Amino acid sequence: MKNFKRLFCLAMCVCIAATCTVSFASAEEANSTAPFRLSVTVNGDTATGRGFCWYTAAQADTKIEIEGLAADAYTVSDAVCEEWDGNWMHKLVVSGLTKGTTYRYRVGDGTTWSEWGTFTTDDGDDKVSFINIADVQAGNLENFQKGAATLTAGFTKLPNPDFVSNCGDFTNDSTNEEWDYYDEAFGALNRTYTIVPVSGNHDGLGVEYWFNNMFALDTTESVQIKDGVNYSFDVGNAHFAVLNTNDVLSISTAQLEWLENDLKSTDKDWKIVFMHKAPYSLGKDAKWPDALYLQECLPPIMAECNVDIVFYGHDHQYLRTKPLTNNQLDPDGTTWVLSGTAGSKRYEIRKFLAGHYMKTEFIDSLVIQKDGYGNFWANGSWDNTSEGNIGGCFETVEINGTELWLTTYILNDKTGEINKVDEVGFNKKAGENKITFEGDNTTSEMDYTLSLVPSFLGLAKYAITKWLPEFFKMLPALLESVIVEDTF
Ligand SMILES: [Fe+2]
Repeated sequence: MKNFKRLFCLAMCVCIAATCTVSFASAEEANSTAPFRLSVTVNGDTATGRGFCWYTAAQADTKIEIEGLAADAYTVSDAVCEEWDGNWMHKLVVSGLTKGTTYRYRVGDGTTWSEWGTFTTDDGDDKVSFINIADVQAGNLENFQKGAATLTAGFTKLPNPDFVSNCGDFTNDSTNEEWDYYDEAFGALNRTYTIVPVSGNHDGLGVEYWFNNMFALDTTESVQIKDGVNYSFDVGNAHFAVLNTNDVLSISTAQLEWLENDLKSTDKDWKIVFMHKAPYSLGKDAKWPDALYLQECLPPIMAECNVDIVFYGHDHQYLRTKPLTNNQLDPDGTTWVLSGTAGSKRYEIRKFLAGHYMKTEFIDSLVIQKDGYGNFWANGSWDNTSEGNIGGCFETVEINGTELWLTTYILNDKTGEINKVDEVGFNKKAGENKITFEGDNTTSEMDYTLSLVPSFLGLAKYAITKWLPEFFKMLPALLESVIVEDTF
């Protein structure tokens, strides 16, 4: 009995000590001003500045230190510190830097700092390169780490990209926990490159939309910032426009107008667009009108403005179209690239879609990253299989003057090998694009509100007159797929 009492007291002491330790640790964590979730984004002139966003558990000052530079050697603007979902979000923008220079920096409150990170400003020459990924869309640390491994593989193929684009769906449910997992997996990488983030529908839509609170972006021309951000920027001889396809289910007329004006306001030789939802795809979501509407409303703008490539995500497979102009094959048209998922959630082909919303002859390359299915396109068929295609997907893009190379790789799940699964080159003449818009391209709140009615009507008209009749034609094959293959 004595021994039992001693054991009981000992157990109680251990429990109390453990509780106190947890309480002290929690209190310490809650009072911490140590930066986390740090990212560097394009913001304004890529040759002279960047945007920075990070979090702290406790309210703290918002400061940056750039190694070797006095504080008055550059300009810091738009500094904010706002409470967001239990933590404090910090943002600031740095401008006035020197082009073509690699900087070391750290952020913090002036006493507690992040680890040092790096970024390199654009040197303005005609060599531009980037890594593109999409749809990590993870819900646990292991799957975020797999996505980060895919990006790490990207850096072995292209060690010094101008930026990394991420075509959206960073997380699955956009919770504090998931963004912390994202930070744990990607944080060390994120300090050392410039990200071009694209808003995805899984980044908090319909709950609390996190996207604009995770990245310090230039929102000056964004038609709204509630569901995502549209913005644009230049690197070297290339212009990049980033769309928000959460805007009125996919895109508002206000954002379409912004895109057209934006693409007409540049004479850069290359024009590339990033967005999330997938207009050309054979994946799970390629049967719904929101994404397919982009097939209706974007091609005329791409044709008019001479856009070379559109990268997007949403359906977790890789598909590259032949060049298209207004949904017709045209060697001088726009190439559409469904980026594949860098993560572990991968979609098989929905065969019932074939020939309904996209002609199969549009497909130049198709790679399914999932086991147990025909997973690559050859000789007009998708029933070929290759185990080498099962893994996380990324693209590298390298522009050298009038030449552009797009190469797609998969980091094999089992072997860790990095397999090249697609490669295509583009050539063009320099100096063909002219500036034809020089006005103000901002959208007032009133103009955006007024655009909502025509936006909904445009989508509804497309859904009723084009999408629905085709859906009914597809329905027998879709039902067969549900019954025979259990695939919807
Ligand atoms: Fe998505």
